[in-house]
Amino acid sequence: MLEILKTCEKAARLGGSILLEMQKSIKPREKAPRDLVTEADLASQKAIQACLTTAYPEFQFLGEEEPEPSERRDPQGYCWVVDPLDGTTNYVHGLDNYCVSIALEHENRPVLGVVYDPIRKELFTAVEGEGAFRNGCPLATSVITELNSALVAASFSANVEADSPEIKRFVAALPHCQALRRLGSAALNLCYVAAGQLDGYWATSVKKWDVAAGMLFVQEAGGTVSDISGAPFCLEEPRFIAASTPKLHQELFQVLNGAVSNP
Ligand code: IPD
Ligand code: CA
Ligand code: CA
Repeated sequence: MLEILKTCEKAARLGGSILLEMQKSIKPREKAPRDLVTEADLASQKAIQACLTTAYPEFQFLGEEEPEPSERRDPQGYCWVVDPLDGTTNYVHGLDNYCVSIALEHENRPVLGVVYDPIRKELFTAVEGEGAFRNGCPLATSVITELNSALVAASFSANVEADSPEIKRFVAALPHCQALRRLGSAALNLCYVAAGQLDGYWATSVKKWDVAAGMLFVQEAGGTVSDISGAPFCLEEPRFIAASTPKLHQELFQVLNGAVSNP
């Protein structure tokens, strides 16, 4: 796995350097209402894909920006799961919270992950069973157990409606948390839970490429993750609650599920 991790790190840094270079001349367009994409998303993915598939032609590849994600030859087999730019809206507006996210999936779970933040030059890495790291330093989730001491983040879909369950959950959680954030990069939110900078994070409208790598970091750093309904986390339909401790997870679970009739 070490050799695979090195290749993955190289691909993530390559994608990150393309994002930095292309930020000087961004031309965004909407691929769906309020859902932006740029030439940099596409260029980053192209470079990452070439790097990974040249080194490991036997692994499958799923990237957010493929025009039509190809059918998985073997749903249980090794597959790269790539978001070449997570946080595109931040990127377009010059807000420094975006990254490249790459995971290697096997038997429906992430077994290796790399997230690279090219602004802060932070490289998050994990291999299943071997811990999570930032620039080589081990990560651990915080020890916070009470929501009123917790800094928590949430994600919304691009076209979120005022009366949606996402907003109902957010409003319900607001008075219970020490503070609540919507930072704009699902992958980095999970990195920050793993690093103890956030104590909790939930999302119900993200895709597997947003969270495959980050989820592994949280698990490897000692965090607690479940599906929003309380069932085990499922990478194919990532609607989840991630928290630093089981007790905090339980409290967040109750507040979020009390807000909607059907989780
Ligand atoms: C988005 C970000 C955002 C989340 C959205 C994602 P993108 O990814 O992760 O935090 O709320 O659901 O689509 O479009 O910037 O790659
Ligand atoms: Ca994304
Ligand atoms: Ca993206």
